[in-house]
Amino acid sequence: MSTPHIDAEMGDFAPVVLMPGDPLRATYIAEQHLEDARLVTNIRNASGYTGTYEGVRVSVMTSGMGMPSAAIYMTELYRFYGVETIIRVGTAGVFDPSLELRSIVAATECITNSSIPGHLLPNQDSLLAPTQELVTMAVRIANQESLDLVMGKVFSTDLFYEPDQNLTVDMAADGVLCVEMETAGLYALAKYEGRRALSLLTMSDHLTTGESLSSAERQVTLDEMIEFALKVAVADSEAID
Ligand code: HPA
Repeated sequence: MSTPHIDAEMGDFAPVVLMPGDPLRATYIAEQHLEDARLVTNIRNASGYTGTYEGVRVSVMTSGMGMPSAAIYMTELYRFYGVETIIRVGTAGVFDPSLELRSIVAATECITNSSIPGHLLPNQDSLLAPTQELVTMAVRIANQESLDLVMGKVFSTDLFYEPDQNLTVDMAADGVLCVEMETAGLYALAKYEGRRALSLLTMSDHLTTGESLSSAERQVTLDEMIEFALKVAVADSEAID
């Protein structure tokens, strides 16, 4: 079988998929963090792999940048490839001046300027939120690993180059931690498809100070988030089995 954007057979994807925005990061995760990883799709260089972590099958597939791209891969994985859970592993720009770079955020709530969630879930005022069971697992594993997981509200934007010069200050005042470009699409689609989702984000640049992670710091933090996300993926695979 194949879908318009994924050229894989049914069963090629594990029930739980880690999803970075960057296709090269999907390759990096497969090569450096999974065992026996195999490329299962690569249309438009949107690479997807399946391997094992601690003996459990896990997949990784890129979302590309932004909700229109991400929604294509998320829909095809959930609807046609039997994927139960997507865990986004991304980076975000920080609004909140007190939130340190290198922090790892679990997006427990999401607001957006995108029309995609409203289009999928009309007449629903419900919050865009992750699967509560995944949040509970993430908190338990963070405690076990002594990882300081920050929980909070994130903003998913359709525009990286934001025209509103006051956005950072206004969002920080409203208690929004950071900005990225895919989480609202993921949470809306998971709800629409009746599946599971969680978004984990590394804080990569400070929008107030302009400070950003060096490439070495970025790599260390990303590795930390990827290992953490894989442990959540293993716990979730056991929970849905
Ligand atoms: N804006 C939007 N998305 C992002 C950013 C940002 O500053 N940093 C990482 N992803």
